[in-house]
Amino acid sequence: SQTDKELLYKIHEVANDFFQEQMFNTDEGKTIAYSYFKERELRDEIIRKFQLGYSPEQKNSFTEFALEKGYSKEILEKSGLSIFPENSPNGIDRFRERVIFPIHSFSGRVLGFGARILKNNVKTAKYLNSPETEIYHKSQVLYGLNQGKQAISKNNLCLLVEGYMDVIALHQSGIEHVVSSSGTALTVEQIKLIKRLTENVTILFDGDAAGIKASFRSIDMLLSESMNIRVLLFPDGDDPDSFSRKHPQDYVEKFIKNEAKDFIDFKAEILLKDAGSDPIRKAEAIRDIVKSVAFVQNALKQEVYLKEVSNKFGLSEQSLFNELNVQKQLQK
Ligand code: CTP
Ligand code: MN
Ligand code: MN
Ligand code: MN
Ligand code: MN
Repeated sequence: SQTDKELLYKIHEVANDFFQEQMFNTDEGKTIAYSYFKERELRDEIIRKFQLGYSPEQKNSFTEFALEKGYSKEILEKSGLSIFPENSPNGIDRFRERVIFPIHSFSGRVLGFGARILKNNVKTAKYLNSPETEIYHKSQVLYGLNQGKQAISKNNLCLLVEGYMDVIALHQSGIEHVVSSSGTALTVEQIKLIKRLTENVTILFDGDAAGIKASFRSIDMLLSESMNIRVLLFPDGDDPDSFSRKHPQDYVEKFIKNEAKDFIDFKAEILLKDAGSDPIRKAEAIRDIVKSVAFVQNALKQEVYLKEVSNKFGLSEQSLFNELNVQKQLQK
């Protein structure tokens, strides 16, 4: 309901202030969380800009605080920030002993949180995120859009990265036209949010198997929505965060500009590396590329891309065109 929504916005604002307060003004927060961000080389201004915070170890510190402020158990449960099991009537916080990344709407309201463990640990999920609530629909939100929207318009380009820290680290390097879908596979709704600002996207994913897989999927989604795309994977297992901390800002900017490829060159490079000289594998690679071309919405663009594939592999345009039509039928 509308009153619930208003309360949920309010409670997220209260929680956001609480988590920042815990990080900056408690011994536990300072020694555990603030120092964590310092180890990751974040400057104070950027920690403030992204309103990073800390959820304490105590199992119901936020819940207790919110109950004292007069919020009901019911609304706390609806917010996803607390649960009230039978055996814990005082409630349990969803986020405990984690650094906190608030997730903002386009216009800057806090809708939910991402939360990271402090020490990498195989047993616990590295990131825990808010569940779906009446105000948070993860498929409709992009992390960093609020902080980056002006720069995206100004650059007429949106960089798409995998994670929270990638967005933040790029901002610290002066690159602000960046968003992340933060662990969810890119959705049509998210692409439409970008499209309000620009039709140009450069995918900058982690240089690992998961990053490649996600980039292939994102390429097809973005092409289906008529976006112009370029793609870049970071070398040697780097992600934008680790890469931008190894190199000066102008190098990172130039690297992104010069190394980003069109999707055909990108897919060809990856798929042919796997294929070697095996003709069957090579044919599969080409079919995979044509499959992406089939997602291109504009017939003229489609033809230009097919020409590129034809030149690149020395194949006739006719046979590629036939394959394109097969793929288009399969997509229906
Ligand atoms: N993610 C998630 N849940 C996980 C792992 C990842 O929601 N258990 C999301 C987070 O938004 C994360 C993004 O997927 O930022 C990318 O994952 P990954 O590359 O593994 O993490 P990094 O962002 O590189 O995290 P960090 O640098 O903090 O280790
Ligand atoms: Mn990754
Ligand atoms: Mn990463
Ligand atoms: Mn990382
Ligand atoms: Mn090319």
